[in-house]
Amino acid sequence: MKVGILGSGEVAKTLGAGFLSHGHAVMLGTRSPEKLSEWVASSSGGRVGSFAETAAFGEVVVLAVKGKVAADVMRAAGAGTSGKTVIDTSNPIADAPPDQGVLRFFTTLDDSLMERLQREFPEARMVKAFNSVGSRRMVNPQYEDGRPTMFICGNHDEAKRQVSGILDQFGWDVADMGKAEGARAVEPLCILWCIPGFLANQWTHAFKLLKS
Ligand SMILES: NC(=O)c1ccc[n+]([C@@H]2O[C@H](COP(=O)([O-])OP(=O)(O)OC[C@H]3O[C@@H](n4cnc5c(N)ncnc54)[C@H](OP(=O)(O)O)[C@@H]3O)[C@@H](O)[C@H]2O)c1
Repeated sequence: MKVGILGSGEVAKTLGAGFLSHGHAVMLGTRSPEKLSEWVASSSGGRVGSFAETAAFGEVVVLAVKGKVAADVMRAAGAGTSGKTVIDTSNPIADAPPDQGVLRFFTTLDDSLMERLQREFPEARMVKAFNSVGSRRMVNPQYEDGRPTMFICGNHDEAKRQVSGILDQFGWDVADMGKAEGARAVEPLCILWCIPGFLANQWTHAFKLLKS
């Protein structure tokens, strides 16, 4: 599968390496390709392009940019995201610093970043995923207690099936939290996940949903 990853940060680079290691073709998208020269050199066949080239390249697109500019980047990606699964890893983190280790969001509990993006880009099949774990545990996470759980949501069942397949390949159990509105709950998992990091410098945990 060809995967176009919009972004040049830790998430984009980590998922890019993960997709490559699982046999997919990968292009990372950025305004500044020189930023990624080291990543390209150390990757096995990774490519770099503009946001528009990267979206056009991908059969699946990953959105891995700062939440505040996610809509700008989707605009720059243009028609390349139309009709495609777009895995949205972004979180709506505000500029203000955390309060006692609790991140501040620029959204409210009655709205979410992914709903905003889905409204503005109705042709993109947005699926929230990978937003509630640190980049280092996104691909093939290893825990004594078994597979951790990735919470996903989105309006398109077929897109969620495709993302669930990718998550399974990457070593995750999947919990489907429903339509795009589910992002009102899934995005704040990032706030919860970061608290042990800010308060106790613990950044290696992941969530697991126990069922009976
Ligand atoms: N880091 C983690 O462990 C982690 C874990 C889960 C979720 N997330 C979420 O995943 C997303 C990516 O995180 P990250 O840490 O990899 O990277 P990041 O530093 O949050 O974002 C870097 C990306 O944002 C783009 N960007 C920044 N300002 C821009 C602007 N004005 N216009 C266009 N693009 C702009 C950059 O584009 P250029 O390449 O053009 O500079 C770059 O590709 C974030 O939303 C984050 O909250 C992160």
